Amino acid sequence: MKGTVSFAVREAVAVAVIQHPPVNALSHGVRTGLLAALARAAQDPSIQALVILGGGRNFSAGADVREFGQPFQVPELGEIIARTEAAEKPVIAALHGSALGGGLELALACHFRIGHADTRLGLPEVKLGIIPGGGGTQRLPRLVGARVALTMIAEGKDISAAEGQRLGLIDECVTGELEEAAVEFAQRVLQEHRPLRRTGELAASLDEPGVFEEFTQNLARKQRGFAAPLAAVKAVRLAYELPFPQGVERELEMCMGLLNGAQSRAQRHAFFAEREIAKVPGVPPDTPVREISAAAVVGSGTMARGIAVCFANAGIPVQLLARSAVASDQARAAIGRIYAASVARGSLSQVQVDQRLELITLTQEDTDLASADIVVEAIAEDLPSKQEVFVRLGRITKSGAILASNTSFLDLNALAASSARAQDFAGLHFFNPAQTMRLLEIVRTETTAPEVTATLMRLGRRLGKIPAVVGATEGFVANRMLARRSREALFMLEEGALPEQIDRVLADFGLPLGPFAVADLGGLDVVLATRRARFAKLSARERAADLIEQLNALGRLGQKSAAGWYRYDAERRAQPDPAVAELISRHSAARGIARRVLSDEEILERCLYAMINEGARLIEEGVVTRAHEIDVIWLHGFGFPAYRGGPMFYADQVGLKSILERLGHYREQVGAEYFTPAPLLARLAREGRGFYD
Ligand code: COA
Repeated sequence: MKGTVSFAVREAVAVAVIQHPPVNALSHGVRTGLLAALARAAQDPSIQALVILGGGRNFSAGADVREFGQPFQVPELGEIIARTEAAEKPVIAALHGSALGGGLELALACHFRIGHADTRLGLPEVKLGIIPGGGGTQRLPRLVGARVALTMIAEGKDISAAEGQRLGLIDECVTGELEEAAVEFAQRVLQEHRPLRRTGELAASLDEPGVFEEFTQNLARKQRGFAAPLAAVKAVRLAYELPFPQGVERELEMCMGLLNGAQSRAQRHAFFAEREIAKVPGVPPDTPVREISAAAVVGSGTMARGIAVCFANAGIPVQLLARSAVASDQARAAIGRIYAASVARGSLSQVQVDQRLELITLTQEDTDLASADIVVEAIAEDLPSKQEVFVRLGRITKSGAILASNTSFLDLNALAASSARAQDFAGLHFFNPAQTMRLLEIVRTETTAPEVTATLMRLGRRLGKIPAVVGATEGFVANRMLARRSREALFMLEEGALPEQIDRVLADFGLPLGPFAVADLGGLDVVLATRRARFAKLSARERAADLIEQLNALGRLGQKSAAGWYRYDAERRAQPDPAVAELISRHSAARGIARRVLSDEEILERCLYAMINEGARLIEEGVVTRAHEIDVIWLHGFGFPAYRGGPMFYADQVGLKSILERLGHYREQVGAEYFTPAPLLARLAREGRGFYD
């Protein structure tokens, strides 16, 4: 049985400590221990109060998510929570680290709560596709009111101990030794004969009647497609509509309904996949890491600036190597604008911005980079120029400095060779805008030292990114799969679809934007440049599908020119453009393709199955060792809906057998060149397995 609860008595105060590292998840063992502690405290006349603490770094991160999907074992959390609140001797929760989910629900049922200053308090269940099931939606609003409760429960935002104290969620904020403070607090409660305050017995009075509609409307937009946030609003509302016991009962039913649903299964998969990819094959946990205390970025364009901002945001001094004084001034001004926007949004104070700006130095002398622990090259996508940069970097940087390239598709092995320090070299692929996108592809070549990969993983997390280690192949994982989807989208335009139909189908599936809206956002000149760079590798049909060239020739560059695949009004709202429909239809005619109506189903299948098939090839080729990386990359690089778990998880839900059959269908229709099933996919389908079996 995993997890226990230790029990000791100190001067009439019993201290129960949850022991289930690293996060004290409320596993079967912990629940059993808590029940025993409650019983002992109730029965032993020498005990007058009970303190519940968490051992290690956290109070508790809540229910043990690994137990979900298996038959629940008694005692259930609800029973422990009910007994805690009903206890006749004072029960005090002493919080530190994470007090999340069921952990916070347990604390809410205690009669008093104190918290160390470092505590994060939250009910983040919506992120796992469920709502709290231990009375959290009924108790929290009774303590902090509907608005704060909705922010914490329906939006899944956590708060600090100081905020918790201000809001009445905890009684006291403490510093110093927590157990001491808790025992001392318990003794005060006893001496002062403080009445037990049972949260469930507090009145729920609504001071803002419109708050539920407001959250429902906002969440329907901001969390489009997700079921749990809207259910959370309904559950909190019940706190004001039903007597407490019925509210708790109803909450549990709603929680269980979501828990057994497809969305939560997918979101739990996403949660564990993110953690799984932190364990990199070939890089054992004890691999030494290098110290990164100074960074440099070569280049001064959009990507280089964004990457420099990432370092500064993490408190790492960074130099930006610009080619000229003009480029340097432009970069400085652009970085200033990035930070000014943060101040305007209220996400950073001017003082914080000033501190960060101080960490960014611009230089035009590459010899200044000699002391950097890492140099990230982020110049234009041109192999010879990049090779030149790495020849220089190989010579001027100090021994042990990590050399990284932000290329999205060039040959990393060639760049590694140019540096003459291949063991120190890796790809570090940021997504645009680098300062906001959370995905970071760490690309190891055949020669990258494990120590370098380990250092980059740790650096990625320090930069607030989700780092995914992949192998060196053209386009790595993200862009190689994306290229397959872009190809199909283009082919389907030729065959009869319009950009707005394809975009709508993918948006309905849950992606934030369809491929054509994304292209307009990034700029069709950028799409053209990438297409030109890859032109030699394109098939004859792809080359002939030159709609991008045609749009560029008309000066339709996307949002920046108010016209691309769509036209844009003054508020940058996209409108389907008859001129584009006309251009596409002329193109189809010129290519001798008879236009037809494509079903939404065909659009979705061709876009997704082309990607999934490529994903299977990436696994087969060892670019990734498992499907987890692919799913996380799509979840965080392209906004693949978390409630579908990522493309490979989605494929398993559809069933590989059915996908194999559809690939066969499109192979006949579109061509073997495009839809020949990957051998791995075909084999798994035949064996009745999925990518995750
Ligand atoms: N149940 C089971 N395992 C959990 C867990 C939970 N509620 N929360 C975390 N873990 C596991 C992680 O999977 C990870 O396991 P691994 O080392 O085998 O990969 C380990 O605990 C450490 O978690 P990690 O997220 O890597 O640590 P962290 O220090 O970065 O973050 C938390 C700690 C608590 C903030 C974070 O784990 C978290 O948000 N957990 C989920 C909280 C939650 O949603 N609770 C409601 C449950 S319904």
